[in-house]
Amino acid sequence: MIQKNQTLVIPGFTCWLTGLSGAGKSTIATELSNKLNILSVPCEVLDGDIIRKNLSTDLGFSRQDRETNVLRVGYICSLLNKHGINTIVALISPFNATRNKLRQSLEKFIEIYVDCPLEECKKRDTKGLYQRALSGEILEFTGISSPYEAPFSPEITVKTNEEDINQSVEKVLQYLLSLQLIHINEKIN
Ligand code: ADX
Repeated sequence: MIQKNQTLVIPGFTCWLTGLSGAGKSTIATELSNKLNILSVPCEVLDGDIIRKNLSTDLGFSRQDRETNVLRVGYICSLLNKHGINTIVALISPFNATRNKLRQSLEKFIEIYVDCPLEECKKRDTKGLYQRALSGEILEFTGISSPYEAPFSPEITVKTNEEDINQSVEKVLQYLLSLQLIHINEKIN
């Protein structure tokens, strides 16, 4: 009789960063991923700009299209998480209703609100998109001509206009440690 090898796979978690364009989601995602790599914690970053260039080229920025985009990424997370790969997502994901669907469908869903005042994001305008949205060149732009709904009770809030990147990432790491989703055997600073 063939005996199946029984390997125990611990389902992965999803750190879902939501916030305005320019709030710092991608920066935090990258730095968090670097820290997790140092700890040999397997993770994959799914970033809005990259997803839209590769997976969601058919979608625009209507409410419906944003929901489709967000749920697609949620589905990828569920596949990766099932195999023990943690995911870090950086998407504006502006609607509470959509994020609640993620919460229902992902086993270990950690909502991280990347909180930065709109005025500060406009000032940063790292991609020059706010200027183009304000001039009417880009339509349905989050915070200008399309809504952003802040989470009601995110697991973690990081305030990128008050904290530096290390403090924000540390908050996430401490949360993961407190739930024993990661373990630290060495100093990671
Ligand atoms: S989401 O709403 O569907 O979650 P997503 O995070 O994938 O948005 O994409 C946001 C990125 O697309 C922004 O960082 C920006 O670079 C670009 N973008 C282009 N047009 C828009 C728009 N109308 N609103 C928001 N972001 C836009």
